[in-house]
Amino acid sequence: MRALKILFVSPEVEPFVKVGGLADMVGALPKELAKLGHDVRIVCPAYGTVKRIGEWHARPEPLGVEVGPATAWARTWETVLPGTAVPAYFIENNDFFSRPEVYTSPWGSCEDNDLRFAFFSRAALTLCQQLGWTPDVVHGHDWSVGLVPMMLNTTLRATPLGQTASVFTIHNLEHQGYSPSRVVNYARLPWSEFLRDGLVSDGMVNLMRTGLYQSTKLTTVSPTYAGEIRTADGGFGLDGVLRFRAGDLVGIVNGIDDESWDPARDRALPANYSAADLAGKAHCKAKLQERFGLEVNPAIPLFGVVSRLAAQKGLDLLAEALPGILDGMKVQFVLLGNGDSRLENTFNWANQAYRGSFGAHIGFDGGLARLIQGGSDFFVMPSRSEPCGLTQMYAMRYGTLPIVRATGGLVDTVENYVEGQERGTGFVFNDATASALTNSIGWACATYYDRPRELAGLQQRAMAVDFSWRHSAPQYVDLYRWAVERRTGVYPG
Ligand code: ADP
Ligand code: GLC
Repeated sequence: MRALKILFVSPEVEPFVKVGGLADMVGALPKELAKLGHDVRIVCPAYGTVKRIGEWHARPEPLGVEVGPATAWARTWETVLPGTAVPAYFIENNDFFSRPEVYTSPWGSCEDNDLRFAFFSRAALTLCQQLGWTPDVVHGHDWSVGLVPMMLNTTLRATPLGQTASVFTIHNLEHQGYSPSRVVNYARLPWSEFLRDGLVSDGMVNLMRTGLYQSTKLTTVSPTYAGEIRTADGGFGLDGVLRFRAGDLVGIVNGIDDESWDPARDRALPANYSAADLAGKAHCKAKLQERFGLEVNPAIPLFGVVSRLAAQKGLDLLAEALPGILDGMKVQFVLLGNGDSRLENTFNWANQAYRGSFGAHIGFDGGLARLIQGGSDFFVMPSRSEPCGLTQMYAMRYGTLPIVRATGGLVDTVENYVEGQERGTGFVFNDATASALTNSIGWACATYYDRPRELAGLQQRAMAVDFSWRHSAPQYVDLYRWAVERRTGVYPG
């Protein structure tokens, strides 16, 4: 079958710029697609804080981007995804991307995101024209690039890019990019398209909704989430359009980059280990206890959290449950996260109040995230909603048993423990309540103390699951081919 040309258009890509798991996905799936022989490339904004890893070359010609009243200009930097030949392009523009923040202004507002990402979307497609490289598929990620499919369908329809199919992935339906309608003129898109599908209301445009209507095919990051978002409860107001497009929506569970996330090779760990020899994991646990000022004691079960502190992640339930858990059980907790200031304050306070059994680090720290994955016995993820979730998969690969709520991708990736039956890879609970979380943690704790052989079995099964992209990348390739057929009328066999 013929190789495809695929352009990833994304606001984040690991290891250059990361806010959450979207970056991990965009940094990992292209590697696997390239291994399958496809010509895959990535384009992302060059934020002020982008890490210039590897060799970066500025492209000789400036990029003239047709937005707003007059052409705007960008510089394009070219590099590769580390360890691969996958080209990664970064769009530099001082007005929009010199600031360090990815999704906000320096004072925390989102007021010019519509212009920033309309500019970026148009720039990504203009870059293809400048390169003389016409992708078969443009694969966009979340609301920030929601205008890309419409650009292909309208202003670029009569150009070679008019034959390019679009695939739009929903990483998180909660964030929709609600933008002032000035963005329509700024992006030089036809008003008729927005009015027809009700994409403008009360003077605002919903960028996510626009992508959902205009994209050739839609994906989201787990099969269970693909079902949830078509219901009124899980659709965040967009369930109608998702039911309308249900035939074009596929849930494909994310993989993980199992070369980067490998306890046998991870250089951020103080000792490496594998399922066959877990001695290094005990060393990681001791280092983690030491780092957070906890009693260094291998016998006490250690629960870890690495998370954005957002309502979605359900960590308010942990905050509520914590006093009872720490009073009633002989356990330790470590937490790494940042985001919501109320939760940050709560966990900072707990850091003082439960010194010795609870430790929090408020901030973003990739190395510490890996130490927590390696050094903990259990990984806690009480998400209210979780499109896929990567951290539970990292945990399992690191022999750390996930304790998760049954929602979205957590349902698709964690199998609940069944006592005495050698089944399960973690602990799953249903209700988004502090008491359900406490019970699940209690169950894990009892398993740790009373059934060490069963615990070891759980750990071996968790470590043996293959979460790599090898399973999911071919599903994307199938989808790309269907998208191309839909767009051009010819199946790219
Ligand atoms: P989400 O994208 O909703 O935040 P995921 O589980 O898909 O959730 O991915 C989160 C990613 O971000 C993981 O790679 C995780 O290790 C990382 N991460 C989250 N919070 C932090 C933090 N405070 N410091 C370092 N890494 C973090
Ligand atoms: C989003 C979701 C998370 C998912 C990630 C990568 O940030 O919240 O569940 O794993 O995207 O697709």
